[in-house]
Amino acid sequence: MFTEIDHVAIAVNDLDAAIDWYAENFGATVAHRERVESDGVEEALLAVADSYIQLLCPTSEDSPVAKYLAKKGEGLHHVGYRVDDCAAALESVKSHGGRVIDEAPRPGSRGTTVAFVHPKTSFGTLIELVQE
Ligand code: CO
Repeated sequence: MFTEIDHVAIAVNDLDAAIDWYAENFGATVAHRERVESDGVEEALLAVADSYIQLLCPTSEDSPVAKYLAKKGEGLHHVGYRVDDCAAALESVKSHGGRVIDEAPRPGSRGTTVAFVHPKTSFGTLIELVQE
């Protein structure tokens, strides 16, 4: 079902500082930047071939990413796998007894459709299923 790694998401405290660091060290540029109010995050996507590094920064203190940063500090937050059919991939996890965070696919950034799989199910990695 996976067609590509869509993005690797990294939680950071200062989005601009992280963007500058990637630009200075690797010449990486921002392909897309978006505030996703419903998730309480601002994200910046840096293109890496056909995939992205997604830098994630909380926009409110009660956002899940703010809680993550408070508990674990900056670092790897989730892996986004590109799929052709988000609903089918989510249903596969559920039908195999897996725990999910989103019971149904929902809108993500860039006009994508997404759903998150609970890390307790997937060996400690928060997984995002991303349909373009
Ligand atoms: Co993501």
